[in-house]
Amino acid sequence: MPDYITHDHDVLIIGAGGAGLRAAIAASAAGVKVAVISKSLLGKAHTVMAEGGIAAAMGNVDDRDSWRVHFADTMRGGQYLNNWRMAELHAKEAPDCVHELEAWGAVFDRTKDGRILQRNFGGHRYPRLAHVGDRTGLEMIRTLQDHGIHLGLDVFMEHTIVTLLKDGNRIAGAFGYDRERGRFHLFRAKAVVLATGGIGRAYSITSNSWEYTGDGHSLAYHAGASLMDMEFVQFHPTGMIWPPSVRGILVTEGVRGEGGVLRNKNGERFMFKDIPPAYVNQTADSEEEGWRYTQGDKNARRPPELLTRDHVARGIRREVQEGRGSPHGGVFLDIAWIKERIPNAAEHIKKKLPSMYHQFKQLADIDITQVPMEVGPTTHYMMGGVQVDADSQMSDVPGLFAAGECAAGLHGANRLGGNSLSDLLVFGKRAGEYAAEYAKKNPQGAVNTAELASMEKWSLQPFGREGADNPYAVQHALQGMMQDLVGIVRLESEMLQALESIQQLAAKAERVGVGGHREYNSGWHTALDLHNLLTVSEIVTRAAIERKESRGAHFRDDFPNKSDEFATFNIVVKKSPGGEPQITRETIGPMRDDLKQIIQEMK
Ligand code: FUM
Repeated sequence: MPDYITHDHDVLIIGAGGAGLRAAIAASAAGVKVAVISKSLLGKAHTVMAEGGIAAAMGNVDDRDSWRVHFADTMRGGQYLNNWRMAELHAKEAPDCVHELEAWGAVFDRTKDGRILQRNFGGHRYPRLAHVGDRTGLEMIRTLQDHGIHLGLDVFMEHTIVTLLKDGNRIAGAFGYDRERGRFHLFRAKAVVLATGGIGRAYSITSNSWEYTGDGHSLAYHAGASLMDMEFVQFHPTGMIWPPSVRGILVTEGVRGEGGVLRNKNGERFMFKDIPPAYVNQTADSEEEGWRYTQGDKNARRPPELLTRDHVARGIRREVQEGRGSPHGGVFLDIAWIKERIPNAAEHIKKKLPSMYHQFKQLADIDITQVPMEVGPTTHYMMGGVQVDADSQMSDVPGLFAAGECAAGLHGANRLGGNSLSDLLVFGKRAGEYAAEYAKKNPQGAVNTAELASMEKWSLQPFGREGADNPYAVQHALQGMMQDLVGIVRLESEMLQALESIQQLAAKAERVGVGGHREYNSGWHTALDLHNLLTVSEIVTRAAIERKESRGAHFRDDFPNKSDEFATFNIVVKKSPGGEPQITRETIGPMRDDLKQIIQEMK
């Protein structure tokens, strides 16, 4: 007989970052019984790595901003592969979501007349990011947590889900274990919301912490849901690169929003060298004009450091590859230079970017108010994820919803900075509301106990293997391989090699062994995470091979240009009845005329 503890809820939310908490608040407000599963301790989520702000067209700093401009910016940033309905909902609803957060106690930086302050970010036409210094994601999590905790949510911290459960085609709950004691848990639920974040841990250089092993993507895929846009992995241009122990930690785009500039080892502002055609008219043609933009001059155009992330990351890579990098293989990000322009610059920097100041002081012994930082691209965000209905966030498995980073659609081929926080507020709320509605209308599905027994058996297998492979070694090999072969710049021959490697590592993962017992056994946890990491790595690679062009975050050295043919569809991956990933090209539906017109006007 399987040995597990059973819990009953109407709506089960897997993931406790911004999207999960916002969904939990919405579902709870709709009057259903809600549980939230957190792989880590509550409050520790990748949401805090969106440091620079929440994108919302409130127009507090520049009243030319509106949801229409935000919609057009998001679509252009995503190279028009975005789900336009999601982009519309997002742009329209983000301001209210920010005000709601404020009403729940979030503290924002303020304009002189007391409104929420907004800053510049890459790809956003006007200053649009509502922020709290460079700790916006942290403030958001704190607020949602404080608010949610009073609504009577059941929170299961340090629990990991290993499989979703279905009754026929529809969802019936999830099965997993608690990390502390290693006991198994059955969560019966009428609706499940996946809010597990991204897949950053499939790469060796990443801003993501240990939790982000693609769990939601993999759970959904194995439950029969479709994944979309999986070829689009975002490499944030600026992560720390030195010392090696901190490599990948995020350096917020807020640094560039506040006037920070990128230089190569010759002191050259190299981003001026290569402006993409779609942004030429909006980009400053002198350092002076770029500076005036960051200081709020409405007649100036933005500096090239505030082009979209895909472009800036490739610009940095180019400088390094061509021998113009910094001593540790990155480039220089300089905010200290503003002392030439403004009085009390050091105090100004510490006030605007307090976390960056402390991060570099404590981790690299560098005072960013005096000297430049060394930075390089870091795997930050997954644009691809569970394919969902734009309004309800339900996947093609009835009762299974997804929101935030593990859902696809809003960002298309490339996400604009700050659109992550607004995404998880807007669509976390929607997912929670619609999941609650679904739970009210549908009975609890039956759970197959034989399936639980076999999952228990599968989960415990690594304990029985003597002289087996080491799970950390397999994880390490996978991360290095993905970084090298399916990274910022891709090539068919290398990706085919990656697929072979994934197969070999998957065979090893079946043989990994762990010692000790079930209590807090991180080797065991890693052994189980491998299943998700390998699943998502294979899907990313297959989708990347299928897209034979360069667009947004997906750059192919063998197909360096955009192709008109590939502009018309998303790549969708689904598990075939035989268990293989099945790839289809799904044509993007025609955009509504009023939205088309907005895009035309903004061009
Ligand atoms: O650079 C940043 O502060 C990250 C923001 C984001 O990913 O949205």
